Amino acid sequence: MSKPVWVKDAPRIINPIPGPRAKELVARDERVMSPSYTRAEPIVATEGWGCYVRDIDGNVLLDLSSGMFVLNYGYSHPRLVRAVEHQLRKLTHFAGTDFYYEAQVELAERLVGITPGKFPKHVYLGNSGAEAVEAAFKCVRWHTRRPHMISFTGSFHGRTFGSMSLSGAETLHREDFAPLVPEVSFVPFPDPYRGPFENSSECIAHIRSRLKKDIPAERVAAVITEPIQGTAGYIIPPPDFYQMLKELCEENGWMFIADEIQSGLGRSGKMFAIEHWNVVPDIVCVAKALAGGIAPIGATIADAKVMNWEPGAHASTFGGNLVACAAAVEGLKILDEMDLVKRAAELGELALRRLEELGENSKIVGDVRGKGLLLAVELVKDKRKKNFAVEERNMLVREALNRGLIVFRGGKSAIRIAPPLTIDKREFELGLDIFEEALREVERRC
Ligand SMILES: Cc1ncc(COP(=O)(O)O)c(C=O)c1O
Repeated sequence: MSKPVWVKDAPRIINPIPGPRAKELVARDERVMSPSYTRAEPIVATEGWGCYVRDIDGNVLLDLSSGMFVLNYGYSHPRLVRAVEHQLRKLTHFAGTDFYYEAQVELAERLVGITPGKFPKHVYLGNSGAEAVEAAFKCVRWHTRRPHMISFTGSFHGRTFGSMSLSGAETLHREDFAPLVPEVSFVPFPDPYRGPFENSSECIAHIRSRLKKDIPAERVAAVITEPIQGTAGYIIPPPDFYQMLKELCEENGWMFIADEIQSGLGRSGKMFAIEHWNVVPDIVCVAKALAGGIAPIGATIADAKVMNWEPGAHASTFGGNLVACAAAVEGLKILDEMDLVKRAAELGELALRRLEELGENSKIVGDVRGKGLLLAVELVKDKRKKNFAVEERNMLVREALNRGLIVFRGGKSAIRIAPPLTIDKREFELGLDIFEEALREVERRC
């Protein structure tokens, strides 16, 4: 697919968002769609290419959020489109839970090869991130015959009952869906910017102290963590944290589950974010970018000794369907052949330096953090007091959008910047220029 003409001179706002056609569609949407979605801005997309998306009123936006951290290879990567077209012509569906086809096996072989740890592994294929987490949850209960789970405050693992029960994010309305799956304990996540712990040892000491009080060590099946907390605004724990947590798991016979749904597949500048800590998890969950946004898919990759359940213990009609597997296999080939993991590390390093500089010269940027192309800028009202600048953050998202740039919220007052790994340097710099301009405007108005 060659570069479409509408990408010329992008980004471009010709009708302030929402334009007239967007307003009309949003009104139709409100009449029939569930009000539970977290629609942040009235962007109505019609087509995409590379890191650009065109809206229904002809505006062309530069998307530094990768369609919510999904489009690691950009919009409509021609190789992905070709792979899916080819698959659709050959075979669209076959009962993958009851029979066999090669695409599932090929994808599983590739996932086994790229996840940390050189030991035999098994792969469960589902349809989403939440399903990948559900599978991990069921799997560790099955394997250990223990009921209890440890998770972190601020974490987000999905919205199904199991994954929601494991999520510590405040925004989930958990109490309104009670009762949740029982036997989940939450411990504070070590956030170097906001605490509550000074270092990793304090966090581990806190968990140990809880073992004597309210966490029954011998009943714990696993600890689940997002190596870098995503929805919370890319919180990166200290460099020694996961080694210490893994040791604690080994001491107590707990499994270690890494939810890499947002951070995995090269985005952090390593294939999986947990590799920054040199830790090998028992189970890794992936979804979002796996099929490059072409089809829903999630995968749970586990040590074969851990994923040792029987036929019938877990399955899904569409999990690992042919089209999603074909896209995912092609995506992993692109990741490898274009050396996108290295590219994410290099581009991320440049962007981090630029954002840090921006932060030093800004009165409302409290913290800048990131690994690879997982970058966050946290706004505060006062740099010393670190109080959340929620309105300023929302204003910044909007000011960026008014200039044709999509960036996404994270945590209470942070902004996540996570472009496609295929973005070229010039496009990324252009996006950061617009971000800077929008920040200056917010500062001027505050
Ligand atoms: C870390 C993490 N885990 C799980 C999920 C849930 O994924 P899904 O929305 O595909 O169910 C998300 C989605 O944002 C996520 O970021």
